[in-house]
Amino acid sequence: MSRLSAIVLAAGEGTRMKSHLPKVLHKVCCKEMINHVVDTVKAAGAGQIIVVVGHKGEMVKEVLDKEVEVAYQNKQLGTGHAVMQALPLVREDTEDVIVLYGDTPLVSASTLTDLVDVHKKENNGMTILTALVDDPEGYGRIIRNKEGEIAGIVEHRDADEEQRDINEINSGMYCFKTRYLREGVKQLGNDNIQGEYYLTDIVEFFRDRGIMIGGYVCTRPEEIMGVNNKRQLADAQRTMNTLKLERLMEEGVIIDDPDATYIGTDVQIGMDTRILPGTFIEGNCSIGENNVIGPGVRIVNCRIGDENHIQFSVLRDSDIGNGCSIGPYSHIRPNCDIKNHVRVGNFVEIKNSVIENGAKASHLSYVGDGDVGRDVNLGCGIVFVNYDGREKHRTIIEDHAFIGCNVNLVAPVRVKKGAYVAAGSTITKDIEEYSLAIERGKQKEIKDWVRRKGFAE
Ligand code: UD1
Ligand code: CA
Repeated sequence: MSRLSAIVLAAGEGTRMKSHLPKVLHKVCCKEMINHVVDTVKAAGAGQIIVVVGHKGEMVKEVLDKEVEVAYQNKQLGTGHAVMQALPLVREDTEDVIVLYGDTPLVSASTLTDLVDVHKKENNGMTILTALVDDPEGYGRIIRNKEGEIAGIVEHRDADEEQRDINEINSGMYCFKTRYLREGVKQLGNDNIQGEYYLTDIVEFFRDRGIMIGGYVCTRPEEIMGVNNKRQLADAQRTMNTLKLERLMEEGVIIDDPDATYIGTDVQIGMDTRILPGTFIEGNCSIGENNVIGPGVRIVNCRIGDENHIQFSVLRDSDIGNGCSIGPYSHIRPNCDIKNHVRVGNFVEIKNSVIENGAKASHLSYVGDGDVGRDVNLGCGIVFVNYDGREKHRTIIEDHAFIGCNVNLVAPVRVKKGAYVAAGSTITKDIEEYSLAIERGKQKEIKDWVRRKGFAE
């Protein structure tokens, strides 16, 4: 078990977001900001994660993984006060604690591990992640003495003119030796413009006690960006998406237009898969090699193999094998297992079904709760009548069966191996192997009817 813990502050309301949703629940690249931060500190090696919640805390708690611990701060009396609420939960054997905010979704695990490395190497009591920025407006400024050591942090509101010119800012992320953090927060007061317990005032206490304070200047200042309003939410979204696409391209994925492609952070894609514009890939997706995906595709939580071609379609919570052709205008709904070399064509909807190798549904069909065997051909306009008004039932079509156009298959029903169903039939009874089933009225023909009516020219 790692002896590193993390405290993530997420109790604030975030009034500038102008939202009914707590700030940290807003999503960036399809994942809540708080979960980006939690996943990042986990990847940086934190063995214990404590999130401090307050405003609509139960809602925040709901999206967190079970192993994440929650501390409550009922009144938002400042960042120092927030840390006080979490400290009783920090394990006794924890050596160091990272403190950071739930609204900085862009910070990377490598920046945090660098921070912890510097902290350990310099044997500091506290190490601050700082950044040099062009526009320090709003941030706490880092005050250094003549020797270049950190002497304090002054909040923007409390800073004088000379201090406001300083462009080294406090990111709000720190690494502390646990025992010093425990001692230090006890001493914090609230004598400042906001009347809050500032965590940053801990610097003064450490300095007076001769406890080492270090600074690690972040090499990628864009990572420390906090999200306070919806414009910054869009900025964060764009930045994170761009970083993800760059990483994928480095790994060998072809992306025709990165400005028109949206891929979530947890998506994996193999070499030489090509992503065309207007494509959204979200959630937990793993996609193999040599696929062509897009234009105009949305994929959520799917596992997709190699060499598939998917265009203008929506797919979610399903598996696709290899060599399939999907779309244009197909809808693969949850819980489908589509095997290899399957063809799903225009205006075909499939839900909770298994489609075996080589099967085809090329046009205008609904396949719900079905088991479709190998090389089955579903003609145009087939409906799996799966719902009787109360319950859903399955339709089973065995290998090599052929279903003609405009057929209703009223479930539960089974079409056995190699059987044929004539076009226009409504099938309510099982069909034996290699039989032909026809269910339709006999065709009548009335001779000369058009002429007798006087309709012929
Ligand atoms: C803080 C820092 C500032 C730094 C900046 C970086 C302090 C006093 N100041 O300022 O030096 O440059 O972040 O973005 O720490 N929170 C709570 N409980 C509270 C107060 C805040 O959980 O009682 C949480 C908020 O939800 C938020 C985070 O802490 O996620 C930061 O609080 P905020 O008030 O926005 O601090 P800043 O003014 O941005
Ligand atoms: Ca802030």
